Amino acid sequence: MIISAARVDDLDAVLALEESGFAVGERWSRESWTAELEHPDRLVLVRHDARGQVIGVATFSLVEDMSDLLRVVVAPDSRGRGIGGSLVRAGMDWAKAVGARRMLLEVRPDNAPAVRTYQKLGFTALNRRRDYYGTGVDALVMAVRL
Ligand SMILES: CC(C)(COP(=O)(O)OP(=O)(O)OC[C@H]1O[C@@H](n2cnc3c(N)ncnc32)[C@H](O)[C@@H]1OP(=O)(O)O)[C@@H](O)C(=O)NCCC(=O)NCCS
Repeated sequence: MIISAARVDDLDAVLALEESGFAVGERWSRESWTAELEHPDRLVLVRHDARGQVIGVATFSLVEDMSDLLRVVVAPDSRGRGIGGSLVRAGMDWAKAVGARRMLLEVRPDNAPAVRTYQKLGFTALNRRRDYYGTGVDALVMAVRL
């Protein structure tokens, strides 16, 4: 698996992944992704294919001993091959190495591929955040001990 820290050069490819992975109202902007890349307490990881194309991205934060998985997206035709899981796993390894004890995330409960990906890595449901994604759309909060 070719996973590396994202660079500013990857931004256009990351935005293309964002478009492929989320509906219009749910997409992060160029400014949001630029902020992720520039933030000192973030790790943004990308996965390249054999031709050097970016086919997956994930971003993680660290605050004291808590890390958050903020986003993970894999290109539609590359899903189901363990790429999303490997990106999250790499972020968990980083978070543990820099002192985090837990990783948290929010996910729509109806996002079955994402929930499955997180469960495979040991994340379990903690609680729900009401209306997190808009009125009537709760978030499932999941966590794993690192
Ligand atoms: C979530 C996502 C990153 C997973 O990436 P991926 O590379 O396919 O992940 P993996 O291959 O590691 O694991 C996917 C798992 O979901 C399962 N899956 C796929 N579709 C599914 C479905 N409709 N219902 C239940 N499980 C499903 C796969 O079978 C696999 O589990 P398995 O290994 O037990 O078979 C990818 O689906 C994606 O980019 N989705 C759009 C963006 C998104 O929703 N991101 C998460 C919220 S930020």
